[in-house]
Amino acid sequence: MSQTQQTSDNSRRSFMKVAGAAALVGSTTPAVYAGENNTIQLALVGAGGRGTGAAANALASKVGPTRLVAMADVFEDRLANSHKALTARFRGAVDVPEDRQFIGFEAYREAMDVLSPGDVVILTTPAAFRWVQFKYAIEKGLNVFMEKPISVDGPSSRRMLALGAESVKKNLKVGVGLMCRHCKARQELFRRIQDGQIGDIVELRAYRMAGPTGSAATGKAPKDSSDLLYQIRRFHAFLWLSGGAVSDFLIHNIDECSWMKNAFPVQAEASGGRHYRGDDVDQNFDTYSIEYTYADGTKLLVNGRTIPGCNQRFASFAHGSKGSAVISSRGHAPSRARIYKGWNMSKENITWSFPGREPNPYQVEWDDLLTAIRQDQPYNEVQRGAEASLVTAMGRMAAHTGQIITRDQMLNCKHEFAPNVDRLTLDGPSPLKANPDGTYQVPMPGLIKDREYGSLS
Ligand SMILES: NC(=O)c1ccc[n+]([C@@H]2O[C@H](COP(=O)([O-])OP(=O)(O)OC[C@H]3O[C@@H](n4cnc5c(N)ncnc54)[C@H](O)[C@@H]3O)[C@@H](O)[C@H]2O)c1
Repeated sequence: MSQTQQTSDNSRRSFMKVAGAAALVGSTTPAVYAGENNTIQLALVGAGGRGTGAAANALASKVGPTRLVAMADVFEDRLANSHKALTARFRGAVDVPEDRQFIGFEAYREAMDVLSPGDVVILTTPAAFRWVQFKYAIEKGLNVFMEKPISVDGPSSRRMLALGAESVKKNLKVGVGLMCRHCKARQELFRRIQDGQIGDIVELRAYRMAGPTGSAATGKAPKDSSDLLYQIRRFHAFLWLSGGAVSDFLIHNIDECSWMKNAFPVQAEASGGRHYRGDDVDQNFDTYSIEYTYADGTKLLVNGRTIPGCNQRFASFAHGSKGSAVISSRGHAPSRARIYKGWNMSKENITWSFPGREPNPYQVEWDDLLTAIRQDQPYNEVQRGAEASLVTAMGRMAAHTGQIITRDQMLNCKHEFAPNVDRLTLDGPSPLKANPDGTYQVPMPGLIKDREYGSLS
């Protein structure tokens, strides 16, 4: 057993002892955790932009000491950059020597093997790998922070729902990176909407109308590069990896609207298209327009666009029988959540807005997770995250096939984008083959109706 494992076992044992004692005497006073013995150890799997950010949030949390002890990625350069940035900012709390830096498709196992039950693994690869890595985290008894989306298609959604239930049974604490749910302003807005301050919700609207975003627009793989590794670097371009622009970009707005409605939609009808493609060969449409329907008939209208030169808007709104609300007004944070009397959203009609500065929800979601771990409170966001991922995919499939898609059709859809995602190798083929000319299969609404891409025959 490595020294890190030994330390981690000891920390966890003494931590569990304190937590157990507090529970036994029914104490409502949070136990005080401080010092070396109570350090929660972290492993980072997927050391890219968000992974580095999530690890920084974990290390910056004031809830109690944390230490990063292992890192995993498929690319050495990504891991090295992340390691450098985190070490520069959190020198004393980053303890990841070369022998705990792991590269490749099995690296996630090696990084988690460094941890002990009760520690936290951060899963921030593209969504395709989520169920594979979450399954191993459950086997190891680890608490988890995982980024959204957590599934990309029917089969991976079914798997995540089942794994989520298993993780609840094992009392694992699992955070899902829909951080807007932890936003203090939106939480207050939710309470006020449930309280009837805008009356009954009659319609919701959401927009993420931007220019080119992430790697959604992507050209052909360079001739000498591996198709698989190229696709992973440009993961927003490919449905098997990320669920594409809809799943990766629109999920937050769909989720925050559904939160205010206190339900997830049951059906979607949608359209979209590819406009100025140039040399791009990714599988995304440039525009998506989705009409979601909730069980009571209420609609959520969602618009996504990644075309430069057009009006830009990144916001969500709720309309009620008595008034209306801004759920978010320009990106994720600050939300600038507010309530208006009537539907005319003018300054003089504002009846409530969040006072003061909104705390950073990316930090709050970590403080909440770590508090739950330290105080052994029930805390598991997987079912909610899986529902959000599923209904987002439902809207995407409706646009890509040109059909009305229900939640149950999406959940039971047999098309698994990457059935072998748990068996990939660095020099092996990708689940998505390029055509001989370097292009890829793309959605063909009205022509291919039971799956989002494939051959026409
Ligand atoms: N909540 C948010 O606001 C937010 C913001 C950004 C990204 N995200 C999510 O975070 C995830 C990562 O996005 P990103 O922008 O950081 O992408 P990124 O490309 O910067 O990082 C992903 C990292 O994972 C690595 N990776 C890929 N496959 C791997 C595997 N099988 N094993 C180990 N490492 C692997 C990549 O090499 C890369 O370093 C996505 O799911 C994205 O939707 C969420």
